[in-house]
Amino acid sequence: MVPSVCGIFGCLCDDAPRVLIEGLKRLEYRGYDSVGIALIGSGGIKVIKEKGRIDDFAAGLPNSALAGKVGLGHTRWATHGAPCRENAHPHTDCSGRIAVVHNGVIENFMELKEGLVKRGHVFSSRTDTEVIPHLMEEGIRQGLGLKEAAVSASRRIKGSMAVAAISASEPDRIVCIRRESPLIIGIGYNGVYCSSDIPALLPYTNEVIVVPEETVVVMRRDGISMETLGGSPLEPKPTKIDWDMGMAMKGGYPHFMMKEISEQPLALSNTLKIQRAFLERAAELIGGKAYLTGSGTSYHACLTASYLFSKIAKADIRAVHSSEFQDAVADLKGSTVIGVSQSGETADTLSALKYAKMMGARVVGITNTLGSSITTSSDIYICTQSGPEIGVAATKTFLTQLAALDQLVFAHALARGAISKEEYAGATAQLERLPAAVQSVVDRVGDLKGVAMKYSRRKDAYFLARGINVATALEGALKLKEISYMHAEGYPAGESKHGPISLVEEGFLCVFVAPSDSARGRVIGNMMEMKARGAEIFSIITNGDRELIAISDEYFEVPEVPEYAYPIVCTIPLQAFAYFVAVARGYDPDRPRNLAKSVTVL
Ligand code: M6R
Repeated sequence: MVPSVCGIFGCLCDDAPRVLIEGLKRLEYRGYDSVGIALIGSGGIKVIKEKGRIDDFAAGLPNSALAGKVGLGHTRWATHGAPCRENAHPHTDCSGRIAVVHNGVIENFMELKEGLVKRGHVFSSRTDTEVIPHLMEEGIRQGLGLKEAAVSASRRIKGSMAVAAISASEPDRIVCIRRESPLIIGIGYNGVYCSSDIPALLPYTNEVIVVPEETVVVMRRDGISMETLGGSPLEPKPTKIDWDMGMAMKGGYPHFMMKEISEQPLALSNTLKIQRAFLERAAELIGGKAYLTGSGTSYHACLTASYLFSKIAKADIRAVHSSEFQDAVADLKGSTVIGVSQSGETADTLSALKYAKMMGARVVGITNTLGSSITTSSDIYICTQSGPEIGVAATKTFLTQLAALDQLVFAHALARGAISKEEYAGATAQLERLPAAVQSVVDRVGDLKGVAMKYSRRKDAYFLARGINVATALEGALKLKEISYMHAEGYPAGESKHGPISLVEEGFLCVFVAPSDSARGRVIGNMMEMKARGAEIFSIITNGDRELIAISDEYFEVPEVPEYAYPIVCTIPLQAFAYFVAVARGYDPDRPRNLAKSVTVL
C-alpha cells in the first residue's frame, strides 16, 4: 500500500477531539496547508477548519468545541482549489447534517458539480470533494441510509477516493469507502479508528485492517462490518503490526527516500488525472516563442521536456537553468516561460519567472505545491499531485514533473496541429498504462543492492546517454553525488571523445542509460569506446536486449515503453542505485549534508 495526497482520520472513542488532533499531527507529513475536524454532538455536526498547520489549529480551538465521541479529521495538501479555510475539509451538504473527509482526486467533479448546482445545491468551496456530501444528501433525501448513500455517490464518482463520512441522522457510526487511495481501520480496546496510514493508529492499536479496493466499511463503537461496493460481505482480516513509530512513519521503509521511490506508481497515476482543461489552457498559452526553466532536478525535467517538445510537437523550446535565466535570455516579449519547481519556492526559479514577467512573458507554473509562490506568480499553473516529499532528494516529484510535461507536450502538439486527435487519444491511452510499467520497475529495485555494493567504493562515475535520455543521465549523476558524495558527472555520451574520455582507465564506472529508443545504436558505439579503455559498464536497458546484456558488466532491465516515456522508467533504477550506494557508504540518504529541501536563497 502506498500513500497519496492528504491525510484522513476518524474515530469512535471517548474524547474524540483529542484523538483526532493527535492523529492529524501524525498525518501532517501527508499535507499541511489546512486542517479541519467534524464532531457529532447533541446539536448535530460541528465543523471547525482553518488554513495552516495543525499546531496553530489546535492552539486556536475553543474549549467549547472539544466534546464528542464520533469525529472526522483531515489534513490537506491542495489539489483542487487554493489552500484556504473554505477549501479545507471536512465538507458538508446543504443541510450541514452530513460531513465528509476525502483523500484522492475526483476526475469528473466539474460535470457532477454542474448537475448538482442545477438541482439547487449550494457549494461553499472550490474543491472536488464537496460533490460527495451533496451527492450523499440526494441519496438520503430519496430514503437511503448513510452507507447506501455513500455507495450510491461512489458509483457516480470517477477517480480515487478514501472517504469517511458521518451523518447527524446516524450518529453512532462512520462510513468509509476506499477506491485507490489508502485506508486503514484500527480496532482498539477503547475505540475504533480509520486513517490514511498505519502510524497514526499505532498509539491506539496495533491490530489493523488494510481496507481492500472498492470496499465500504461501517464503523461502530462495538466493531466494523465490510462489504464490496457491489454489496458482497467481506470478512475483516486484522494484521498485527510490530513496527516502531519511526519505521511506521516511513511506511516500514528504512528511509523516506525509499518510501518515496516506492510511491511513484500512485504518484504518477494521480498526476495523470490532471484536469484536461488546465492542460489545454496551458498548451494554448505556449504560443510562439517559449522557454522552460527550473533548478536541479526540476531543470532536468525541463531538459527532458525540451527534447519532447522538439520530437513530438515540432517546437523548439529551450531549457535554461533558472540561476542563469536572466543572463541567457533577452527577448521575452510575447513569449511563454514554463517554470518548473517542486516546492514552488526556489528563489532562483521565482527570480527567473519574475524577470520573465517584467520582460513581457506569460508564465506557466508546474509545481507540486498549491498555494506556493509559483502558483501566485503564474498566469496558469499545473499541480503535479505527488503529495509531500520528505527526502531531500527529489524522486517521486521528478517522475510526476515528467508526466505533467509529457501531457503538456501532447496537448501543445495537438493545439499546433503536429499530431492528430487520434494520435493524441493514443498517447493518452499509452500514458495511462505507465503506472503499471513503473510498478514493475519499482518491484525490482531491490535487485540493485548488489550492484550498488560492488561499485560503492569507486571514486568517480560517468552517467551517459543520448537524445531523450541525456537529462535522465544528468539526473542519475545528481542523485548519486548529492546523497552518496561519490563524484559523478552526467553528459551526452557523444561528448566523451571531446574531453572526458581522457579520465577513463581500468575499472572506471560508466553508467549508460541505453533503452531501445532511437539513440540506442549510437549509444552502443559510445559504450564500446569506454569499454575499450577498461571502463566498467552498468547499463539501463530494455527487457531482453541481449546485445547490451553481453556488453555490460551489470545491467538493469526496464519494460518496453513508448520512446517519450523511457526517461520515466529509466530514472527509477538510477534513484535506487544512488540510494543503495549512499546506504552502503554509511550515509543517511534523507539528509544529505549542505542541502535543503527548498532552496530559498539566490
Ligand atoms: O523545489 P524545486 O523543484 O524548485 O527544487 C529545485 C532543486 O533544488 C531540487 O530539484 C534539487 O535539485 C533536488 N532536491 C535534488 O534531488
